[in-house]
Amino acid sequence: SPLSASATIQQAQSEEPPLMDTPTNHAKLVDWVRAQQALLEPDNVHWCDGSQGEYDGLVADMVERGVMLPLDSNLRPGSFLTRTDPADVARSESSTFICSRDQIDAGPTNNWVDPKEMRTELVKSFRGAMRGRTMYVIPFSMGPIGSPLARIGVQVTDSPFVVVNMRIMTRIGQSVLDALGNDKKFVPCVHSVGKPLESGDKDALWPCNIPQRKVVHFPESREIWSFGSGYGGNSLLGKKCFALRIASVMARDEGSLAEHMLILGLTAPSGKKSYIAAAFPSACGKTNLAMMQATLPGWKVQVIGDDIAWLRFNPQDSRLYAINPEAGFFGVAPGTSAKTNPNAMETIRKNTLFTNVALTDKGDIWWEGMTKARPEGKVVNWKGEIWDASMGDQCTPLAHPNSRFTTPVDQCPAKDPAWDDPNGVPISAIIFGGRRETTVPLVFQAKDWNHGVLIGASVASEKTAAAEGNDLGQLRFDPFAMLPFVGYNMGDYFNHWLSMPNRVKDPSKLPKIFHVNWFRKDANGSFMWPGFGDNSRVLKWMIDRLDHPEDQSLYTSTPIGYVPKIGSLDLRGIEKNVQGGVMEKLLEVNAQSYLSEVNKARDYFKRFGDRFPAKLTKELDDLENRLRNS
Ligand code: GDP
Ligand code: PGA
Ligand code: MN
Ligand code: MN
Repeated sequence: SPLSASATIQQAQSEEPPLMDTPTNHAKLVDWVRAQQALLEPDNVHWCDGSQGEYDGLVADMVERGVMLPLDSNLRPGSFLTRTDPADVARSESSTFICSRDQIDAGPTNNWVDPKEMRTELVKSFRGAMRGRTMYVIPFSMGPIGSPLARIGVQVTDSPFVVVNMRIMTRIGQSVLDALGNDKKFVPCVHSVGKPLESGDKDALWPCNIPQRKVVHFPESREIWSFGSGYGGNSLLGKKCFALRIASVMARDEGSLAEHMLILGLTAPSGKKSYIAAAFPSACGKTNLAMMQATLPGWKVQVIGDDIAWLRFNPQDSRLYAINPEAGFFGVAPGTSAKTNPNAMETIRKNTLFTNVALTDKGDIWWEGMTKARPEGKVVNWKGEIWDASMGDQCTPLAHPNSRFTTPVDQCPAKDPAWDDPNGVPISAIIFGGRRETTVPLVFQAKDWNHGVLIGASVASEKTAAAEGNDLGQLRFDPFAMLPFVGYNMGDYFNHWLSMPNRVKDPSKLPKIFHVNWFRKDANGSFMWPGFGDNSRVLKWMIDRLDHPEDQSLYTSTPIGYVPKIGSLDLRGIEKNVQGGVMEKLLEVNAQSYLSEVNKARDYFKRFGDRFPAKLTKELDDLENRLRNS
């Protein structure tokens, strides 16, 4: 049973915890919360109603304790800066676990511990973990409340910082309890910073417990237990833990998809609207693409989601419909500027929570890439150290490379009118991509669905600061950008993707699959493609391909797929940036380099053993043959 660990603990407890007022008649939920109370031993229990008053009260309390620093109320109204413990700044992949009954079901890409053993360990860590603190109970909905594609979770946490972030990133509170009724299912999520307070202890500004940190998922019982970290990806359990790791398992069982994808709406000058989903690894451009201000005249991009998509077929029209299960953006700060992402800059003008960015002497925030020059005057860096121009590069970067903003989608000037449509939007194209300095062209299109699945499975990217580790910049395979997020055996996941055409009446309605690379570099190490708003030119080419599949002037058929003919990309206005053979280079397919990619992929896929689909082996063989014969 999903609650077995907690049930055992409750029996072990000799005294019943005091009765509490509960805002719900959901007996299983109340029992579960009581069991957590018995295990975690908080001083108080607070059921979150999700109101503005509740949010304001929690913020005021954290401001008083110095956990949240209010920014200048004219420059950034309703906004705050928080500095984390310097050891708690990114997702911790080495302490993330998928505890399926059988190890093979977690697969070779996930850390696995026997669930019985893990439960014993969890009880040790979590017993009494909330002493001296309040346990907040957060009912939350991933997806618009009441949407047929939405799912509900309940998170208990001892971090008020997590509560205020969850209120921006998800829909929380009484309305969710109402939707849950008396007996609907919810995903139970337990989170503690792992630092109980004994009487007289002074609390740390950022309590955490790095040595015992663990983010644990039980896919069969659909439970999440996270201990010792307050960093977003480890502690806002609706996001990566639920909406990707647990939801990917639910999606496998239901025949749907839960993906690490942005969703955007693209309007052509004709007024025709298309919806596109794109999967790139963390810190590889999802938020920027989703919020892009198109430089191509007459084209408009609007955002539905910037990180996660839940997709389901509609049997009526055979089309794949997507919702964004989130309600906020948890965006990478560095590199965000009025030039690169004006819509993000506008979104974060107010009511935004910043973590690990720099603080200027005007009471505003700053990060590398926001402006060319560093700010005047004294600046406090993300570690709390004071910096000024006389210090040069000392104490830099001023903002942590994985510093983030938490901000409501509703505030984004580029939000799509359908961003919270409970039925989702029909997806016409799916894009995969990664950071690749060499080899991989700006854009190419898969020959068909199975070839597209091979392209997704072969995504590789240079490692970014979004996850811990000292292997920054090193190339790693990250299939479907889901390496850290798939909740089951990745080989089975590939099979699930291959099964999609069998799930619809009319497979010709499936989205078309593309691959992009904004990050190709020249010999001097500079990006060759201008990127950002100019990526609209690549989106336009995709729409042209969808609208005119027979038009041979648009593409060259190469061994790796369909690549734009030079001249089929609309480069008006940026001709100067890409002259001198740059476009030729960006669209080149080098058979030798690609053969070495094939070899690396073949080697990588070996780890999936007999769970690796024969259909993908055939796709890889075909690709190799096409390259050898080219
Ligand atoms: P996400 O984590 O996938 O959402 O990625 P972001 O959109 O937050 O981008 C991560 C980093 O990549 C930021 O520093 C961006 O400025 C940078 N970036 C995003 N898109 C582009 C692009 O088209 N070209 C280049 N050169 N950098 C980009
Ligand atoms: P990102 O989201 O994809 O926007 O970086 C956070 C993460 O994946 O850790
Ligand atoms: Mn992400
Ligand atoms: Mn992002």
